[in-house]
Amino acid sequence: MTQIDRLRSLGLFDARVPRYTSYPTAPVFSADIGAAHQAAALAGLDPAEPVSVYIHIPFCERLCWFCACRTQGTQTLTPVENYIGTLEQELALLKETLPAGLRMGRMHWGGGTPTILPPALIHRLAQAVKAVLPPTEDCEFSVEIDPTMVDTPKIAALAAEGMTRASIGIQDFDPLVQQAIGRMQPFDVTRACVDDLRDAGIGSLNADLVYGLPHQNAARLDDTLDKVLDLGPDRIALFGYAHVPWMSKRQKLIDAASLPQEVARYRLAERAADRFRGAGFTPIGIDHFARPGDGLELAARTGRLRRNFQGYVDDSCATLIGLGASSISRLPAGYVQNAPATPAYVQRIEAGELAAVRGHVMTDEDLMRARAIEMIMCDFRLDLEALHERFGAMAARLRPEIAAVAARFGDLVEVTSTGLTVPPDGRVLARLVAHVFDAHAPEGARYSQAS
Ligand SMILES: C[S@@+](CC[C@H](N)C(=O)[O-])C[C@H]1O[C@@H](n2cnc3c(N)ncnc32)[C@H](O)[C@@H]1O
Ligand code: SF4
Repeated sequence: MTQIDRLRSLGLFDARVPRYTSYPTAPVFSADIGAAHQAAALAGLDPAEPVSVYIHIPFCERLCWFCACRTQGTQTLTPVENYIGTLEQELALLKETLPAGLRMGRMHWGGGTPTILPPALIHRLAQAVKAVLPPTEDCEFSVEIDPTMVDTPKIAALAAEGMTRASIGIQDFDPLVQQAIGRMQPFDVTRACVDDLRDAGIGSLNADLVYGLPHQNAARLDDTLDKVLDLGPDRIALFGYAHVPWMSKRQKLIDAASLPQEVARYRLAERAADRFRGAGFTPIGIDHFARPGDGLELAARTGRLRRNFQGYVDDSCATLIGLGASSISRLPAGYVQNAPATPAYVQRIEAGELAAVRGHVMTDEDLMRARAIEMIMCDFRLDLEALHERFGAMAARLRPEIAAVAARFGDLVEVTSTGLTVPPDGRVLARLVAHVFDAHAPEGARYSQAS
């Protein structure tokens, strides 16, 4: 049997399983958990432990058809400016709730398009956050950058506020692919953005690419990869296109007949991965690549790689505070999510209430399974001894699942007396392996393709 036939027989091309950026995954969150839980968990934080902060900016000037992010189009800055005002109010509510002395070790601005903010709003937002959560000396600040929606003054403003990493949206450089996903982005514009970022002293650049897009084939992909490598990123995220038109209505504009089929899609991902390895990048987890010495590569090498809503991170903060519409916070007691729709979020904050409307309180077993799944997604191994050390005898509850994984995946996983390891040939199955340990997997939930 060929490798492709094996992967097919194991269900890789049919499976729809989560990407496990959290455990349990967001569809499991309950409406019984809300602002009261959020307030209690925030008040109970240890001020000696710096926190990560995520800020969601749900606005874009153009709405790309392929995009599944929570965002809305706007041609004027009025709603954006109003939204920054709401974030300031949310920060004021946090200030009343958080223990004194808490500091920020990481900040990430995502969206949507954070670079829709003009310099004055960039400064206003950054200053508002820092006033409530002063940054640690080594605080890292990363921002998602749309090269078509940024200019030198915006980059200068972000750099002045301490941006240390820029994550640049690229997806694909081929004009036919760009047309089919409703996102025109000339290479020259991207090159100018990268040059500006380097000139501003931004030391770490990440490039976001997507495989499995309409009309992508080997030749077109090769051309995109040449251009991406020419830009000299430090990290690359290579996401599989998630075609979920039932969730993201604008994807209905994409002709499903132009999407590469399962095996072609798998080969595109392999082709890009081979190319990145050949260019000296280290594969990280299921979909990232990093240059040796980059923070993500160091974290992977030293067992400090973590997974959160931003994907793979080398973030050591246990707590993540999410601000803005739809943002998810990871607090010691569990997860809370702000009202997903911007008007509902604004209404909550304007009424003087924290904005969480859903969440999940973690049991001890949830915490153990979350760490087990994170180990599989980050390190391609499940270390029962480490779980036993941290969670005690409960770790043995995973033994039946380990046996189930061995029976299902054969030599594409190696079961040992201390857990399991997924060797390179089986790594494409990581989401499926992780899914076996998911005790909350909702019946009938529709996730994106596993490959
Ligand atoms: C918020 S966007 C990036 C920032 C900025 N708005 C831009 O477009 O450059 C985050 C990233 O998510 C990824 N993404 C969005 N929709 C996706 C989908 N349907 N499937 C896979 N990746 C997707 C893209 O790589 C995108 O760059
Ligand atoms: S890819 Fe970026 S610019 Fe395009 S719709 Fe999504 S968030 Fe907006």
